[in-house]
Amino acid sequence: MSNYKEQILKEIGIPLWRTRGKELSGVEREVSEKFECWDKVTEDANVCESCPLHLTRNSVVVGKGSKEAELLIVGEAPGAEEDKQGLPFVGKAGILLDQMMLSCSEYFGEAYVVNVIKCRPPGNRTPEKIEIDSCFGLLLRQIRLLSPKGILALGRTAAHTLLKSDAPLSNLRGKVHYDSIVEIPVVVTYHPAYLLRSPQEKVKSWEDLNLLKTIFGDVN
Ligand code: URA
Repeated sequence: MSNYKEQILKEIGIPLWRTRGKELSGVEREVSEKFECWDKVTEDANVCESCPLHLTRNSVVVGKGSKEAELLIVGEAPGAEEDKQGLPFVGKAGILLDQMMLSCSEYFGEAYVVNVIKCRPPGNRTPEKIEIDSCFGLLLRQIRLLSPKGILALGRTAAHTLLKSDAPLSNLRGKVHYDSIVEIPVVVTYHPAYLLRSPQEKVKSWEDLNLLKTIFGDVN
């Protein structure tokens, strides 16, 4: 593990696991530290009571996908189906997201998918600031652990959280943001739930995905 990663983990309060007996090889150590830390994020999320949403949730929806992914997709919050199954993007919006990503899988491979907040807001309302702030540490830990090459922010909540901006989504999409709060390039696009309601905007999301490809080395 690089000094940089060690420093970040220390800053966000994740203890490093050290072997006492057998010395692990460099690769074994990387893998074991990585998975112990992912497990810790899940453990911490599952017992989180930092905001009132823990009172109404059925599941804490932590994330899904490959923990080796180079692309992180960040949505807003679990909906009813996600709350039931404990997985992000498994409802109608998730089916559209899967189709969108499948069309680009040769560029990005399997992504890791999370939400800004991990518990469902009642009635699927927009998350409140206190909920976003309470969950922010978990999101940051996930981003640090994955250390993706690029992030796709779906919709306003994800865009505003990652870019510390309150600009309209139409101003934030259509470019690569190199100044995100996590210093990882971010591309913003419409949330798939919005695209289901406004299918005429799908063409813009297609343009955003093409832009995302440029982070991954494709310029066509
Ligand atoms: N919308 C989101 O933002 N996230 C989900 O997991 C499902 C719907």
